[in-house]
Amino acid sequence: MTPSAPDEPGTGADRPISRKNLLRAAVAAGAAVPLLATGTVALARDAGTQGRDLAPTPFCDDGDDPTIPQMEGPYFKPNSPLRGNLVTPGTPGTPLTVSGYVFGRDCVPLSGVLLDFWQADNAGAYDNVGYTFRGHQFTDASGAFSLRTIVPGLYPGRTRHIHVKAQAPGEPVLTTQLYFPGEPRNNTDTIYDPALLMNVRNVGGGKEATFDFVLDVEGGPTDPPTDPPTDPPSGSWAPGHPYAAGDRATYGGAGYRCLQAHTSMTGWEPPNVPALWRRE
Ligand SMILES: [Fe+2]
Repeated sequence: MTPSAPDEPGTGADRPISRKNLLRAAVAAGAAVPLLATGTVALARDAGTQGRDLAPTPFCDDGDDPTIPQMEGPYFKPNSPLRGNLVTPGTPGTPLTVSGYVFGRDCVPLSGVLLDFWQADNAGAYDNVGYTFRGHQFTDASGAFSLRTIVPGLYPGRTRHIHVKAQAPGEPVLTTQLYFPGEPRNNTDTIYDPALLMNVRNVGGGKEATFDFVLDVEGGPTDPPTDPPTDPPSGSWAPGHPYAAGDRATYGGAGYRCLQAHTSMTGWEPPNVPALWRRE
């Protein structure tokens, strides 16, 4: 996404309507978003074909490129808590909600994408001891995510930003950063890129931001798993199996305990997702 006026407050009014924006509008309005058999989203402009077969819309034609990577920086910590709300009672700062969708290259919203956020606190400091303002979550069935946090503080040498890692199951990790429009330091920060600007608006005493990720991957939520779901024999880990917190499974000859309820997928093997499995 490349807003036409990168450093102006992002109202979205000056941006072309894209398939993703239409999806956002439909979801925001509470409308059902039908998925075609191909896994593509049937949106408003696909209507008007009554009496004819709906044409699948396999191509992303709204001009969006994959979200660009940026440096991780020195403050990433693995094993962040699974949570969409990073705000604890009494935490100073301006409330901020960041929401949006994660899409694949073909404009299909991607479910189950791991999003790991980390940012500075109101004073511009990272918690390198604990996990304050660190947390990961997974996109829901519609590819949506929502993060509750505060506006990160400034620290020397950088403009205001939020770090994030995004990973579709079994796919490479995208590490990048999200930026705020209208920040004076956007003009001097050499890492800043306007392609990573969020749309931000003031709501009450806080801010609401939106950002849609586009990952350089194929497929979508209706793709069948690589391996057919099976019940794990003899406690062996298997994809497509619902695990509850506390469940045990073996993988690669080692024992693991499930930390968070989830349905396993190829790419989420216990050694690969320490947020979901702890080796015993
Ligand atoms: Fe940073």
